[in-house]
Amino acid sequence: MSVAAEISHGTGVSVSITSVSKVYDGDVQALQSVSLDIPAGQFLSILGPSGCGKSTLLRIIAGLDEPSTGEIRIDGVLQRPGDRRTGTAFVFQDAHLLPWRTVLRNVEVPLELLGTPRQRRRELAMHAIEEVGLADAIRRYPAQLSGGMRMRVSLARALVTRPKLLLLDEPFAALDEFTRQNLDEQLLALWQHTGMTVIFVTHSIAEAVFLSQRAAVFSRRPARLLDDIAIPLPANRTIETRSDPVFVEIARQVQQVMKGQVDE
Ligand SMILES: Nc1ncnc2c1ncn2[C@@H]1O[C@H](COP(=O)(O)OP(=O)(O)OP(=O)(O)O)[C@@H](O)[C@H]1O
Ligand SMILES: [Mg+2]
Repeated sequence: MSVAAEISHGTGVSVSITSVSKVYDGDVQALQSVSLDIPAGQFLSILGPSGCGKSTLLRIIAGLDEPSTGEIRIDGVLQRPGDRRTGTAFVFQDAHLLPWRTVLRNVEVPLELLGTPRQRRRELAMHAIEEVGLADAIRRYPAQLSGGMRMRVSLARALVTRPKLLLLDEPFAALDEFTRQNLDEQLLALWQHTGMTVIFVTHSIAEAVFLSQRAAVFSRRPARLLDDIAIPLPANRTIETRSDPVFVEIARQVQQVMKGQVDE
């Protein structure tokens, strides 16, 4: 079986967030009783004012941090602190590439950690790199890439283990609008192709509405869930989607909810 045929039919996991609060040492409360049920395979965006607690929630879902109270279940299984969350991948705002490694060798990193044999590692990494459209750049080093290309490498590195849950924390925020829209479209295609569950944190209302099936809007810190908005746009979204009346109406609705949360 080809690599593509073998790995193109993953399925997502469900994520259940129940009454999650987080208080950091020194009394900073970042999350206040947040509950969200995310069905397997859903694409959810999270929006909220700067500093409200979005990254905190993502880190808790990833198992990089612990909730103070409340629980996270993945496919119904209660997640305990320190559990290894195989099947979960995280993409940060900065690409975090290793400068001394080529594109190919950067994408191989997660497989090295899993102990995947060399030949197999190479096949899977090549496939992930092709999926993000970087096949021509496999021998380049991070310093020889544009910001958009670096982010593609970061995405390929997240996808190489075929995650069932992909968490993205403002991944394209530092890129120009054109590159960002281009990457949005690629991410959407990858999501449709893989069936993984995606949780995407962004400050861009347009990006959230374009990408997701659902938008969760958080309040100022401590983050509470203010609104949970379904986005009934067709799965196949193109540049025209951005002028669809449904798109415009939902963007307006999200804007209304967020407006009350920003300091004047
Ligand atoms: N490790 C930590 N220790 C103490 N406080 C923290 C820690 N991490 C985050 N915080 C605080 O928790 C609050 C929420 O931070 P968080 O990074 O989750 O916000 P955010 O919504 O992701 O913000 P942004 O939109 O700017 O990325 C902030 O007040 C932040 O200073
Ligand atoms: Mg953040």
